[in-house]
Amino acid sequence: MGINNFDLKRYISEKKVKIEEFINSYFNPSITPPILHESVLYSLTAGGKRLRPILCISSYEACGGKEDITAYATAIEFIHTYSLIHDDLPAMDNDDLRRGKPTNHKVFGEAIAILAGDGLLTEAFRILSNPKYADVKPINLLRVISEISYSAGLYGMVGGQAYDLISEGKEPNKEVVEFIHLNKTAKLISASVKSGAILADANDEQIKRIETYGLSIGLAFQIVDDILDIEGTTEQLGKPKGSDEKKGKMTYPRVYGIENSREKAKELIDHALKAIEIFDQKAEPLREIAKYIVKRSS
Ligand code: IPE
Ligand code: IPE
Ligand code: MG
Ligand code: MG
Ligand code: MG
Repeated sequence: MGINNFDLKRYISEKKVKIEEFINSYFNPSITPPILHESVLYSLTAGGKRLRPILCISSYEACGGKEDITAYATAIEFIHTYSLIHDDLPAMDNDDLRRGKPTNHKVFGEAIAILAGDGLLTEAFRILSNPKYADVKPINLLRVISEISYSAGLYGMVGGQAYDLISEGKEPNKEVVEFIHLNKTAKLISASVKSGAILADANDEQIKRIETYGLSIGLAFQIVDDILDIEGTTEQLGKPKGSDEKKGKMTYPRVYGIENSREKAKELIDHALKAIEIFDQKAEPLREIAKYIVKRSS
Protein backbone atom coordinates (compact mmCIF):
# COMPACT_ATOMS: atom_id res chain seq x y z
CA MET A 1 0.00 0.00 0.00
CA GLY A 2 1.19 3.55 -0.79
CA ILE A 3 1.41 6.38 1.73
CA ASN A 4 -2.10 7.53 0.97
CA ASN A 5 -3.41 4.03 1.56
CA PHE A 6 -4.05 3.31 -2.07
CA ASP A 7 -4.83 -0.38 -2.26
CA LEU A 8 -3.48 -1.65 -5.60
CA LYS A 9 -4.65 -5.22 -5.16
CA ARG A 10 -8.21 -4.14 -4.60
CA TYR A 11 -8.07 -1.57 -7.40
CA ILE A 12 -6.84 -4.24 -9.85
CA SER A 13 -9.45 -6.79 -8.83
CA GLU A 14 -12.28 -4.26 -9.20
CA LYS A 15 -11.17 -3.34 -12.71
CA LYS A 16 -10.67 -7.00 -13.59
CA VAL A 17 -14.26 -7.80 -12.66
CA LYS A 18 -15.58 -5.21 -15.13
CA ILE A 19 -13.22 -6.33 -17.89
CA GLU A 20 -14.23 -9.95 -17.41
CA GLU A 21 -17.93 -9.07 -17.32
CA PHE A 22 -17.50 -7.37 -20.68
CA ILE A 23 -15.67 -10.40 -22.12
CA ASN A 24 -18.34 -12.79 -20.86
CA SER A 25 -21.24 -10.81 -22.25
CA TYR A 26 -19.68 -9.77 -25.56
CA PHE A 27 -19.96 -12.82 -27.84
CA ASN A 28 -23.69 -12.83 -28.29
CA PRO A 29 -24.86 -14.29 -30.62
CA SER A 30 -22.34 -17.12 -30.35
CA ILE A 31 -19.64 -17.44 -32.97
CA THR A 32 -20.16 -20.13 -35.59
CA PRO A 33 -18.73 -22.75 -35.75
CA PRO A 34 -18.87 -23.51 -32.00
CA ILE A 35 -15.23 -24.68 -31.93
CA LEU A 36 -14.13 -21.15 -32.89
CA HIS A 37 -16.33 -19.68 -30.16
CA GLU A 38 -14.83 -22.07 -27.62
CA SER A 39 -11.29 -21.37 -28.76
CA VAL A 40 -11.72 -17.57 -28.50
CA LEU A 41 -13.35 -17.78 -25.06
CA TYR A 42 -10.83 -20.37 -23.86
CA SER A 43 -7.93 -17.94 -24.20
CA LEU A 44 -9.82 -14.78 -23.26
CA THR A 45 -11.12 -16.27 -20.01
CA ALA A 46 -8.01 -18.22 -19.04
CA GLY A 47 -7.01 -15.47 -16.62
CA GLY A 48 -4.16 -13.11 -17.24
CA LYS A 49 -3.26 -9.96 -15.39
CA ARG A 50 -5.36 -7.66 -17.64
CA LEU A 51 -2.52 -5.17 -17.36
CA ARG A 52 -3.15 -3.35 -20.65
CA PRO A 53 -6.88 -2.63 -20.21
CA ILE A 54 -6.33 -1.67 -16.57
CA LEU A 55 -3.58 0.73 -17.64
CA CYS A 56 -5.88 2.23 -20.26
CA ILE A 57 -8.60 2.89 -17.68
CA SER A 58 -6.10 4.20 -15.10
CA SER A 59 -4.67 6.64 -17.59
CA TYR A 60 -8.16 7.77 -18.63
CA GLU A 61 -9.00 8.42 -14.98
CA ALA A 62 -5.65 10.12 -14.29
CA CYS A 63 -6.51 12.54 -17.11
CA GLY A 64 -9.90 13.31 -15.58
CA GLY A 65 -12.11 10.92 -17.58
CA LYS A 66 -15.44 10.12 -15.94
CA GLU A 67 -17.08 7.64 -18.32
CA ASP A 68 -16.93 3.84 -18.16
CA ILE A 69 -14.55 2.95 -21.00
CA THR A 70 -14.23 -0.76 -20.13
CA ALA A 71 -15.29 -1.84 -23.65
CA TYR A 72 -12.57 0.14 -25.40
CA ALA A 73 -9.97 -0.92 -22.86
CA THR A 74 -10.96 -4.56 -23.27
CA ALA A 75 -10.53 -4.31 -27.04
CA ILE A 76 -6.80 -3.93 -26.26
CA GLU A 77 -6.95 -7.16 -24.23
CA PHE A 78 -8.43 -8.87 -27.33
CA ILE A 79 -5.37 -7.76 -29.32
CA HIS A 80 -3.01 -8.84 -26.55
CA THR A 81 -4.69 -12.26 -26.30
CA TYR A 82 -4.44 -12.76 -30.06
CA SER A 83 -0.72 -11.97 -29.80
CA LEU A 84 -0.27 -14.63 -27.10
CA ILE A 85 -2.17 -17.31 -29.05
CA HIS A 86 0.03 -16.69 -32.10
CA ASP A 87 3.22 -16.27 -30.03
CA ASP A 88 2.77 -19.81 -28.68
CA LEU A 89 2.27 -21.50 -32.07
CA PRO A 90 4.78 -24.14 -33.18
CA ALA A 91 6.02 -21.81 -35.94
CA MET A 92 6.73 -19.12 -33.33
CA ASP A 93 7.73 -19.90 -29.70
CA ASN A 94 6.24 -23.40 -29.72
CA ASP A 95 5.03 -23.33 -26.11
CA ASP A 96 2.55 -25.72 -24.49
CA LEU A 97 1.36 -23.74 -21.48
CA ARG A 98 -0.24 -20.30 -21.22
CA ARG A 99 -2.11 -18.67 -18.35
CA GLY A 100 -1.79 -21.97 -16.49
CA LYS A 101 -3.54 -23.99 -19.20
CA PRO A 102 -2.51 -25.88 -22.35
CA THR A 103 -1.98 -23.38 -25.17
CA ASN A 104 -4.81 -22.72 -27.60
CA HIS A 105 -3.34 -24.76 -30.46
CA LYS A 106 -2.77 -27.74 -28.14
CA VAL A 107 -6.49 -27.85 -27.41
CA PHE A 108 -8.09 -26.68 -30.66
CA GLY A 109 -5.39 -27.34 -33.27
CA GLU A 110 -3.22 -24.87 -35.12
CA ALA A 111 -5.74 -23.81 -37.74
CA ILE A 112 -8.41 -22.84 -35.21
CA ALA A 113 -5.80 -21.14 -32.99
CA ILE A 114 -4.61 -19.02 -35.92
CA LEU A 115 -8.18 -18.10 -36.80
CA ALA A 116 -9.09 -17.31 -33.17
CA GLY A 117 -6.17 -14.88 -33.15
CA ASP A 118 -7.19 -13.33 -36.46
CA GLY A 119 -10.74 -12.99 -35.19
CA LEU A 120 -9.75 -11.34 -31.91
CA LEU A 121 -7.56 -8.81 -33.68
CA THR A 122 -10.32 -7.89 -36.11
CA GLU A 123 -13.07 -7.82 -33.50
CA ALA A 124 -11.03 -5.39 -31.38
CA PHE A 125 -11.28 -2.78 -34.11
CA ARG A 126 -15.03 -3.39 -34.45
CA ILE A 127 -15.38 -2.43 -30.78
CA LEU A 128 -13.05 0.56 -31.05
CA SER A 129 -14.86 1.90 -34.09
CA ASN A 130 -18.29 1.78 -32.43
CA PRO A 131 -19.06 4.98 -30.49
CA LYS A 132 -21.96 3.37 -28.61
CA TYR A 133 -19.92 2.08 -25.68
CA ALA A 134 -19.20 5.38 -23.91
CA ASP A 135 -19.76 9.09 -24.28
CA VAL A 136 -16.41 9.93 -25.85
CA LYS A 137 -15.66 12.06 -28.89
CA PRO A 138 -15.72 9.97 -32.11
CA ILE A 139 -12.65 11.89 -33.31
CA ASN A 140 -10.80 10.63 -30.26
CA LEU A 141 -11.83 7.06 -31.05
CA LEU A 142 -10.39 7.58 -34.51
CA ARG A 143 -7.09 8.72 -32.97
CA VAL A 144 -7.12 5.69 -30.67
CA ILE A 145 -7.65 3.34 -33.62
CA SER A 146 -4.68 4.94 -35.36
CA GLU A 147 -2.47 4.61 -32.24
CA ILE A 148 -3.39 1.02 -31.56
CA SER A 149 -3.08 -0.14 -35.16
CA TYR A 150 0.35 1.51 -35.34
CA SER A 151 1.58 -0.10 -32.13
CA ALA A 152 0.19 -3.58 -32.86
CA GLY A 153 1.11 -3.70 -36.54
CA LEU A 154 4.13 -3.80 -38.82
CA TYR A 155 5.74 -0.77 -37.16
CA GLY A 156 5.10 -2.21 -33.70
CA MET A 157 4.33 -5.62 -32.26
CA VAL A 158 4.34 -7.59 -35.51
CA GLY A 159 7.69 -6.09 -36.49
CA GLY A 160 9.07 -6.80 -33.02
CA GLN A 161 7.85 -10.40 -33.11
CA ALA A 162 9.45 -10.94 -36.52
CA TYR A 163 12.78 -9.56 -35.29
CA ASP A 164 12.52 -11.71 -32.14
CA LEU A 165 12.14 -14.83 -34.26
CA ILE A 166 14.94 -14.13 -36.74
CA SER A 167 17.29 -13.27 -33.83
CA GLU A 168 17.10 -16.69 -32.15
CA GLY A 169 20.61 -18.06 -31.63
CA LYS A 170 22.29 -14.84 -32.84
CA GLU A 171 25.13 -12.99 -31.07
CA PRO A 172 23.93 -10.75 -28.22
CA ASN A 173 23.30 -7.26 -29.56
CA LYS A 174 22.16 -4.22 -27.55
CA GLU A 175 20.50 -2.32 -30.38
CA VAL A 176 18.65 -5.42 -31.56
CA VAL A 177 17.30 -6.40 -28.14
CA GLU A 178 16.11 -2.86 -27.52
CA PHE A 179 14.34 -2.76 -30.88
CA ILE A 180 12.67 -6.12 -30.25
CA HIS A 181 11.44 -5.26 -26.77
CA LEU A 182 10.24 -1.78 -27.65
CA ASN A 183 8.30 -3.09 -30.60
CA LYS A 184 6.95 -6.44 -29.46
CA THR A 185 5.83 -5.22 -26.03
CA ALA A 186 6.41 -1.58 -25.08
CA LYS A 187 4.48 -0.01 -27.94
CA LEU A 188 1.18 -1.78 -27.18
CA ILE A 189 1.54 -0.97 -23.48
CA SER A 190 2.24 2.64 -24.37
CA ALA A 191 -0.72 2.70 -26.76
CA SER A 192 -2.91 1.41 -23.91
CA VAL A 193 -2.16 4.39 -21.67
CA LYS A 194 -2.04 6.83 -24.56
CA SER A 195 -5.49 5.70 -25.66
CA GLY A 196 -6.86 6.34 -22.17
CA ALA A 197 -5.41 9.84 -22.23
CA ILE A 198 -6.79 10.55 -25.71
CA LEU A 199 -10.27 9.34 -24.73
CA ALA A 200 -10.15 11.65 -21.70
CA ASP A 201 -9.42 14.52 -24.11
CA ALA A 202 -6.06 15.20 -22.44
CA ASN A 203 -3.84 17.98 -23.82
CA ASP A 204 -0.72 17.35 -25.93
CA GLU A 205 1.68 17.78 -23.02
CA GLN A 206 -0.23 15.25 -20.89
CA ILE A 207 -0.44 12.78 -23.78
CA LYS A 208 3.29 13.10 -24.45
CA ARG A 209 4.13 12.40 -20.80
CA ILE A 210 1.74 9.47 -20.61
CA GLU A 211 3.36 8.06 -23.75
CA THR A 212 6.84 8.33 -22.19
CA TYR A 213 5.50 6.63 -19.06
CA GLY A 214 4.04 3.83 -21.22
CA LEU A 215 7.16 3.18 -23.26
CA SER A 216 9.32 3.09 -20.11
CA ILE A 217 7.11 0.73 -18.11
CA GLY A 218 6.53 -1.31 -21.28
CA LEU A 219 10.24 -1.89 -21.81
CA ALA A 220 10.70 -2.61 -18.09
CA PHE A 221 7.78 -5.06 -18.29
CA GLN A 222 9.46 -7.13 -21.03
CA ILE A 223 12.85 -7.02 -19.24
CA VAL A 224 11.15 -8.42 -16.12
CA ASP A 225 9.38 -11.02 -18.30
CA ASP A 226 12.84 -12.13 -19.49
CA ILE A 227 14.15 -12.25 -15.90
CA LEU A 228 11.12 -14.26 -14.75
CA ASP A 229 11.70 -16.74 -17.57
CA ILE A 230 14.95 -17.56 -15.71
CA GLU A 231 14.06 -16.96 -12.07
CA GLY A 232 10.33 -17.65 -11.88
CA THR A 233 8.54 -20.96 -11.61
CA THR A 234 6.25 -22.49 -14.20
CA GLU A 235 3.47 -22.58 -11.55
CA GLN A 236 3.77 -18.86 -10.79
CA LEU A 237 4.15 -17.84 -14.41
CA GLY A 238 1.48 -20.13 -15.84
CA LYS A 239 3.85 -20.58 -18.79
CA PRO A 240 6.98 -22.71 -19.19
CA LYS A 241 10.04 -21.42 -17.37
CA GLY A 242 13.25 -21.54 -19.42
CA SER A 243 11.48 -21.14 -22.75
CA ASP A 244 13.84 -18.31 -23.86
CA GLU A 245 17.04 -20.16 -23.04
CA LYS A 246 15.83 -23.21 -24.94
CA LYS A 247 15.38 -21.14 -28.09
CA GLY A 248 18.43 -18.90 -27.67
CA LYS A 249 16.20 -15.81 -27.55
CA MET A 250 17.70 -12.33 -27.67
CA THR A 251 16.76 -11.28 -24.13
CA TYR A 252 18.04 -8.56 -21.76
CA PRO A 253 19.62 -11.07 -19.35
CA ARG A 254 21.43 -12.67 -22.29
CA VAL A 255 22.75 -9.32 -23.53
CA TYR A 256 23.38 -7.52 -20.21
CA GLY A 257 23.38 -10.21 -17.50
CA ILE A 258 20.66 -10.59 -14.91
CA GLU A 259 21.76 -7.95 -12.39
CA ASN A 260 22.25 -5.23 -15.00
CA SER A 261 18.88 -6.10 -16.46
CA ARG A 262 17.24 -5.70 -13.07
CA GLU A 263 18.99 -2.33 -12.70
CA LYS A 264 17.79 -1.21 -16.12
CA ALA A 265 14.21 -2.13 -15.31
CA LYS A 266 14.38 -0.08 -12.09
CA GLU A 267 15.84 2.94 -13.93
CA LEU A 268 13.05 2.73 -16.49
CA ILE A 269 10.43 2.76 -13.73
CA ASP A 270 12.06 5.86 -12.19
CA HIS A 271 11.98 7.49 -15.61
CA ALA A 272 8.29 6.61 -15.98
CA LEU A 273 7.45 8.06 -12.57
CA LYS A 274 9.28 11.28 -13.42
CA ALA A 275 7.32 11.64 -16.66
CA ILE A 276 3.99 11.67 -14.80
CA GLU A 277 5.07 13.96 -11.96
CA ILE A 278 2.82 16.73 -13.31
CA PHE A 279 -0.33 14.67 -12.62
CA ASP A 280 -2.24 14.87 -9.34
CA GLN A 281 -3.31 12.08 -7.01
CA LYS A 282 -5.66 10.66 -9.66
CA ALA A 283 -2.47 9.24 -11.21
CA GLU A 284 -1.71 7.20 -8.07
CA PRO A 285 -2.82 3.93 -9.74
CA LEU A 286 -0.40 4.59 -12.63
CA ARG A 287 2.40 5.16 -10.11
CA GLU A 288 1.63 2.02 -8.13
CA ILE A 289 1.29 -0.13 -11.26
CA ALA A 290 4.73 1.09 -12.43
CA LYS A 291 6.29 0.01 -9.11
CA TYR A 292 4.45 -3.31 -9.20
CA ILE A 293 5.93 -4.13 -12.62
CA VAL A 294 9.43 -4.61 -11.23
CA LYS A 295 8.27 -6.39 -8.07
CA ARG A 296 5.95 -8.89 -9.74
CA SER A 297 6.54 -12.64 -9.72
CA SER A 298 3.97 -13.63 -12.37
C1 IPE B 1 2.90 -11.74 -21.74
O1 IPE B 1 2.13 -10.67 -21.30
C2 IPE B 1 3.56 -11.37 -23.03
C3 IPE B 1 4.51 -10.26 -22.91
C4 IPE B 1 4.42 -9.20 -23.63
C5 IPE B 1 5.62 -10.37 -21.99
P1 IPE B 1 1.47 -10.68 -19.86
O2 IPE B 1 2.50 -11.03 -18.83
O3 IPE B 1 0.76 -9.38 -19.67
O4 IPE B 1 0.44 -11.88 -19.96
P2 IPE B 1 -0.98 -12.10 -19.27
O5 IPE B 1 -1.95 -11.26 -20.03
O6 IPE B 1 -0.88 -11.67 -17.83
O7 IPE B 1 -1.24 -13.56 -19.43
C1 IPE C 1 5.95 -12.01 -26.45
O1 IPE C 1 7.17 -12.07 -25.81
C2 IPE C 1 5.48 -10.69 -26.74
C3 IPE C 1 4.21 -10.72 -27.48
C4 IPE C 1 3.95 -9.78 -28.31
C5 IPE C 1 3.22 -11.79 -27.32
P1 IPE C 1 7.45 -13.48 -25.16
O2 IPE C 1 7.48 -14.54 -26.18
O3 IPE C 1 8.60 -13.34 -24.24
O4 IPE C 1 6.12 -13.65 -24.27
P2 IPE C 1 5.85 -14.94 -23.36
O5 IPE C 1 7.01 -15.06 -22.41
O6 IPE C 1 5.72 -16.11 -24.28
O7 IPE C 1 4.58 -14.57 -22.65
MG1 MG D 1 7.78 -14.68 -28.22
MG1 MG E 1 6.61 -16.53 -26.02
MG1 MG F 1 8.80 -14.18 -22.30
